[in-house]
Amino acid sequence: MINDKKVIFSGIQPSSDSVTLGNYLGALKNWVTLQDEYSCIFSVVDMHAITVRQEPAQLRKNTLSLLAQYIACGLDAEKNIMFIQSHVPQHAELSWILNCFTQMGELNRMTQFKDKSQKHPENINAGLYTYPVLMAADILLYQTDLVPVGADQKQHLELARDIAHRFNTLYSDTFVVPDAYIPAKNAGAKIMSLQTPTAKMSKSDPNPNGCIFLLDKPEDIIRKVKRAVTDSEAEVCYREGKDGINNLLTIYSTVTGKSVDEAVAEFTGRGYGDFKLAVGEAVAEHLRPIQERYDDLMKNKDYLESVYKKGAESAFSIARRTVTKVKKKVGFII
Ligand code: TYM
Repeated sequence: MINDKKVIFSGIQPSSDSVTLGNYLGALKNWVTLQDEYSCIFSVVDMHAITVRQEPAQLRKNTLSLLAQYIACGLDAEKNIMFIQSHVPQHAELSWILNCFTQMGELNRMTQFKDKSQKHPENINAGLYTYPVLMAADILLYQTDLVPVGADQKQHLELARDIAHRFNTLYSDTFVVPDAYIPAKNAGAKIMSLQTPTAKMSKSDPNPNGCIFLLDKPEDIIRKVKRAVTDSEAEVCYREGKDGINNLLTIYSTVTGKSVDEAVAEFTGRGYGDFKLAVGEAVAEHLRPIQERYDDLMKNKDYLESVYKKGAESAFSIARRTVTKVKKKVGFII
């Protein structure tokens, strides 16, 4: 607990110049709603990003851009700690120690590792393999109670819990065992690709029309949604097997704040063309003020620098406390 409030930690990798609509609806948008009730710590996890090859100048740009996207989406730099992961060396330090409390068998089971190794067969590095341990370190360093993420991170979260529990059992209570905070299935937990609605929306979608980016132009958003793969029926309803329509209904309801039932009622008797246009326009309209704030923020690099510097100082002082405690427990002379 910090200031009697429960602690939230989460992060996004700066591995592209814009987050996806999946990142936004599965994670970022929910962070904004939690910032008053919790002590929140949000990191731009650049150390995670280098598990896949990054172009250095682009990574620097993406890192700053992601911080600006956090703020543009509504995260208040006065209320939350926002920082860049590599600025706080305790992440690497705790990660090493936790590596020694994680079994190979546990890491072998991680589906994201299996997927990413398939996608990057030329670079199956050890960092990609131990990535979930770094993620556990991120979370456990801040004695985090709750981790708001999309459904794809559930397995990593469970590993973080297992590691925390294992360490606590061996050495007495050291870490808070964190809970995942994942939206409901029809509320953004897993936004699907517009082109392959059985697969998660991802920036690495082989079809560029499959993924909407937070910084996409309105006309591109509307075009991508118009081309979204649906089904051969003509009924807008949320039903097993209607993956494309279910996904669009989820997107529509999360950006408009209407329930899925309300959305279905609105489009009863109307064709898919009408529905898709409404979804595209609603997304573009929802993202418009975010994009405007983003453009302003990117003109003020000094401000962004002040946010991440202050964030790193605050994160450092919390992280150092945890690492000191951990070092004592394992028997290091400190
Ligand atoms: P990353 O960068 O892949 O994704 C960031 C967040 O977006 C969510 N997300 C989605 N949610 C719904 N639908 C989708 N299609 C979709 N795609 C992505 C992810 O679940 C995530 O919440 N390992 C993490 C980053 C991380 C982290 C942490 C998160 C590192 N350390 C500590 C929480 C706590 C990742 O790769 O997220």
